[in-house]
Amino acid sequence: MEAIMLAGGFGTRLRPLTYTRAKSLLPILNKPMIVHLIETLPDEVNKVILAVNYRNDQIEKYFKEHDCGKEIIVNDESKPLGTGGAVKFAEKHISERFLVLNSDVICSLNLSDMIKFHIKNQSMSTISLWPVENVSEFGVADVKENGNIVDFVEKPKAEDAPSEFINAGAYCLEPDILDYIDTGRLISMEKEIFPQIIKDTGRFYGFKFEGYWMDIGRITSYIEAHKFLMQKKKIDICKGDNCEIYGILKESCIGNNVYIGKGSKLNSTIVYDNVVINDNVNLTGCVVGENCKIGSFSDLKNSVLGDNEIAEEETILDNKVIWSQPIPKGYPDKQIGNVIEE
Ligand code: GDD
Ligand code: MG
Repeated sequence: MEAIMLAGGFGTRLRPLTYTRAKSLLPILNKPMIVHLIETLPDEVNKVILAVNYRNDQIEKYFKEHDCGKEIIVNDESKPLGTGGAVKFAEKHISERFLVLNSDVICSLNLSDMIKFHIKNQSMSTISLWPVENVSEFGVADVKENGNIVDFVEKPKAEDAPSEFINAGAYCLEPDILDYIDTGRLISMEKEIFPQIIKDTGRFYGFKFEGYWMDIGRITSYIEAHKFLMQKKKIDICKGDNCEIYGILKESCIGNNVYIGKGSKLNSTIVYDNVVINDNVNLTGCVVGENCKIGSFSDLKNSVLGDNEIAEEETILDNKVIWSQPIPKGYPDKQIGNVIEE
């Protein structure tokens, strides 16, 4: 069985971390987000098609160097085709019933159970469903007791939402669905294809599951996912190789070759590889990119440093995103100056 991982897009809400790397390679507990997802695939999936269009060179390099036990195909779109267009573009690799996964989600969905549910209902398209309070950032399904979805609205206004069940970003699809998607144009699976399938076939189902579900679309949810997974693993810190730590870490994750000086305190913070944090630094709710240096007596709260940034001694930051280098060509941005106010 084949699985398409939708891993395109720039991940603008995760900038500046995504200025220098593909969103799907952002580490969660020191392992790329996409690898966490690949690990949830059932054994029957032997081929993984990574639908990408930004920094595909990094993704290719990663999978050349790391074996994840499945055949990996990097399918580069050259320009973004949208969630539907990306699936159509992967058509040449599809031979039978297949899975599609948004690659910015961490959840406890059992894909084998979803496939069984799909087969039992003779569905054409089955999507995973998760209940949330605020549905307006998601796709929302009007789902009947037996799982049949009779309406699907992408990002509705709260008052127009048909239910509290959102599209949790995993689909089991019959290959016929590919006939509904035009070739070579920007198409949203959620806005154009799903409503059409409902209208034309009625064979559209939703699979509810229990446990947890997190969308890693923003810095806050990125940090929350770390905290959640650490609690689940019953660990308070996650640490890479070759680190020297003289300070105190709480609910924090650090990469390889990280130095943390004495008197420094890290709380709910993520630090990438090759970082030096000098003495008496406080970091709370921060992400520190690769090769960064933070000078002594700095105090950073809810802030992000992109790769290769330097915070001088006694830097005080609250709710800031630091990026002082040129923004990569073609990266969509609304940045003003070098500090982005979120
Ligand atoms: N290859 C490719 N090409 N992938 C893309 C493209 C594209 O043009 N556009 C988006 N993607 C990928 C993203 O990387 C992500 O993994 C997935 O498709 C979904 O796109 P997002 O941009 O993250 O969409 P969203 O978070 O606003 O909404 C989607 O996810 C929600 C759940 O997290 C929708 O599927 C919603 O219906 C859903 O509720
Ligand atoms: Mg998303």
